[in-house]
Amino acid sequence: SLSIAARAAYILRDNSTGLITKAAPALYPHQWSWDAAFNAIGLAAVDLPRARLELDSLFSGQWRNGLLPHIVFDPAADGYWPGPAQWECATLSEEAPSAPATSGIIDPPVHAIAVDRILAVARAAGGPEAERTEAWAAHLYPKLLAWHRFLARDRADKQTGLITLFHGWESGTDNSPRWDAPYAAVEVGPSLPSYVRKDKAHVANAGQRPTDREYDRYLWLVEEAKRASYDAGLLRQTGSFQVGDVLFTAIFARACDLLAKLAVHLRKANDAAELKDFAAEARAAVFCHVDEASGLAADVDLRTETWLRTETIAGFAPLIAGGMPLELRRRQVDMLLGQRWAGHPSFKYALPPSTSPCSSAYNPACYWRGPVWPVFTWLLTWALSRSSEPGAASALREASLAQLADETFAEYYHPVTGEPLGSLHQSWTAAAALDWLF
Ligand code: DGY
Repeated sequence: SLSIAARAAYILRDNSTGLITKAAPALYPHQWSWDAAFNAIGLAAVDLPRARLELDSLFSGQWRNGLLPHIVFDPAADGYWPGPAQWECATLSEEAPSAPATSGIIDPPVHAIAVDRILAVARAAGGPEAERTEAWAAHLYPKLLAWHRFLARDRADKQTGLITLFHGWESGTDNSPRWDAPYAAVEVGPSLPSYVRKDKAHVANAGQRPTDREYDRYLWLVEEAKRASYDAGLLRQTGSFQVGDVLFTAIFARACDLLAKLAVHLRKANDAAELKDFAAEARAAVFCHVDEASGLAADVDLRTETWLRTETIAGFAPLIAGGMPLELRRRQVDMLLGQRWAGHPSFKYALPPSTSPCSSAYNPACYWRGPVWPVFTWLLTWALSRSSEPGAASALREASLAQLADETFAEYYHPVTGEPLGSLHQSWTAAAALDWLF
């Protein structure tokens, strides 16, 4: 495992531009929002100044209304599409900064989790780095607060309490079958500009990426967002994809707890109370959407007001949110490790796949439709170890580290063959390994 840690540290160094850590060397040559937060967690283990810089760079792309964009573009990088010329954020929205160029949609809010982890590592280290990290966190705090306020104000759905997404990319689980039904209702307009995908060239087999049909819809939703000047109020009227995401909402709940803790530390009692309210509302929304029969949480198609019950990893949102009744927690942990999930007899390692092998939508080689994502396993272990489930957390950590001994640090893995898939040397996979081994 010394060798895994050393390789992981090299990967984060190789993927660095000096200012940011590219999400992946070729497939994702810019800074992605939730990737950056996970990368900062991994960097904390080896280089606290770089961990801080990672989040500072990301937040340099924050919008005036608090929106933290899902991509902050590196002007020096090329090869990713859609790029700044497609998003046109600064032209279309007065909220967007003129530089750096960014996308106009969001990613799951794991940033306060990262700040909490970086502070813990720095405090344990002590000395001047601990002091610098305290000062840094105090400086970043108002930006985190603005981001959380944006989500509560612009994105919390009044009916369900769930955070609303206007694009599957916002969930971070782009082509997960959880979104199949809402995507099927998206009609691509005739004015979709023609385009050439660049992503397929960077993987061993295009079948590991979303299909062209899916991409048409992804790009059409970008067109819709542009027409609405990336304004959530307008998108609620016009958007043809509007979902309440249980997983995003669960992450928000947990992140609000931690940001409230930081607010208390900074003696901001009013902010702390506000953040605790956000957390309580988000957590309640997650628990209200647990399907009794399956025990899994369900997303909601807000346009048709229907629950989306496909068996995907998002069903374990309550485990991420934490604070659930003991009975539900035990049921979810047993399920997660059981035969419909990590314990499926066909699996090489007992790790939870992105979609259950018992679902008709399961495709073990394709992106979020089946493969195992180490970074998601990390998030589960992080949450489980903080929810009095250390046994489950360490079982998943051991299994994932056994898989990562192949040292490819793949974006995702085939659950049955263990084959590395997607991008190799993915930064957040290396970051997960580093934090586990720290
Ligand atoms: C991609 O390009 O595949 C990303 O997940 C979307 O941001």
